[in-house]
Amino acid sequence: MLRSRGLQNRKQELAVNLQAGIVISLVITVVGGVALAVPKQYVWIGDQTGYSPVQPIEFSHKVHAKDNSIQCEYCHSGARNGPVAGIPSAQVCMNCHSEVKKDSPEVRKIAAAVQNNRPIEWVRVHDVPDFVRFDHSAHVNKGVACQTCHGPVETMARIEQTQHLSMGWCVGCHREYTRRPPKGFTNVNASVECSTCHF
Ligand code: HEC
Ligand code: HEC
Ligand code: HEC
Ligand code: HEC
Ligand code: HEC
Repeated sequence: MLRSRGLQNRKQELAVNLQAGIVISLVITVVGGVALAVPKQYVWIGDQTGYSPVQPIEFSHKVHAKDNSIQCEYCHSGARNGPVAGIPSAQVCMNCHSEVKKDSPEVRKIAAAVQNNRPIEWVRVHDVPDFVRFDHSAHVNKGVACQTCHGPVETMARIEQTQHLSMGWCVGCHREYTRRPPKGFTNVNASVECSTCHF
């Protein structure tokens, strides 16, 4: 009697799990369908706009890129040559900070990282899922400015995500730039084939 009730309970549990599974897969199907049909309507899914985490060192883009006019590509040299823009190593910081502000507590953290041969653990801000193929060089070499996708970084004391990086955002721009290239752009052919952005 006891045993069979246990079995009964387990069967009910299984049925509940199965129902939950069906509901979840339905939700995924519907959301995926909406996403493909009307990309502009689903930007709320996983929207990270405004994300601006505290970083291990108070690094200011305003101080570096604006007040001291250091070029973006001095530190993000990968952006023109491949998919990843890259975060500069602590050694790059020390090109200047072995002299500049070397007694500042924040700058001391850089020196300590180099001394201990430990990378600075910057918190990643912009991130698309692994099943998406994004390539900086295709955009940067065509002349799309960093700020078009990252906002006015040179005014930011702390970096912040300003665009939602959704599929609708990518596809919308690919269509727009191909149909009506903005001033200064010619022969744009930014494909909206699935395989352009998905492996
Ligand atoms: C002196 C070096 C330096 C310069 C110059 C610089 N950056 Fe950065 N950048 C960094 C560092 C270090 C980080 C990681 C820490 C942070 O997020 O603040 C970073 C982070 C970023 C991120 C966020 C990365 C992520 O995790 O999503 C973006 C976007 C970015 N930089 C764009 C730019 C742009 C655009 C410019 C020019 C206007 C620029 N940077 C100039 C050093 C630099
Ligand atoms: C090309 C030179 C250069 C490079 C490379 C550089 N910085 Fe700087 N940094 C400066 C200058 C100039 C200042 C402003 C100094 C001042 O206010 O007098 C500064 C200021 C700072 C400050 C503020 C210090 C304070 O207490 O006021 C921090 C923190 C800092 N930098 C971190 C970094 C980090 C982290 C990197 C590497 C990702 C880096 N810097 C790379 C030139 C540089
Ligand atoms: C067409 C839009 C676009 C342009 C233009 C663009 N980025 Fe990005 N950036 C992105 C996206 C999307 C991501 C997230 C990529 C990922 O998760 O693989 C990203 C990520 C980054 C990151 C963190 C990851 C990495 O690749 O290192 C940095 C740093 C960065 N961008 C800097 C820059 C700089 C500097 C420029 C200009 C030279 C630039 N970006 C131009 C869209 C863009
Ligand atoms: C501001 C407009 C804009 C945005 C936003 C944008 N792209 Fe692009 N994309 C372009 C342009 C322009 C090109 C270059 C087309 C050409 O070479 O004629 C391009 C090219 C590409 C390429 C290279 C295609 C090839 O044939 O080599 C890939 C991959 C790509 N984009 C992926 C993405 C992804 C993924 C996103 C979103 C995370 C995105 N793009 C967001 C404008 C944009
Ligand atoms: C220009 C780049 C681009 C093209 C073209 C593209 N996608 Fe996407 N796709 C993305 C990005 C970026 C995401 C991640 C969105 C996010 O994280 O919110 C995504 C996400 C998805 C997802 C996951 C569900 C979701 O909405 O997040 C599916 C499914 C998908 N794409 C299917 C497709 C299909 C099918 C096509 C062709 C009809 C296509 N994609 C064309 C960039 C693209």
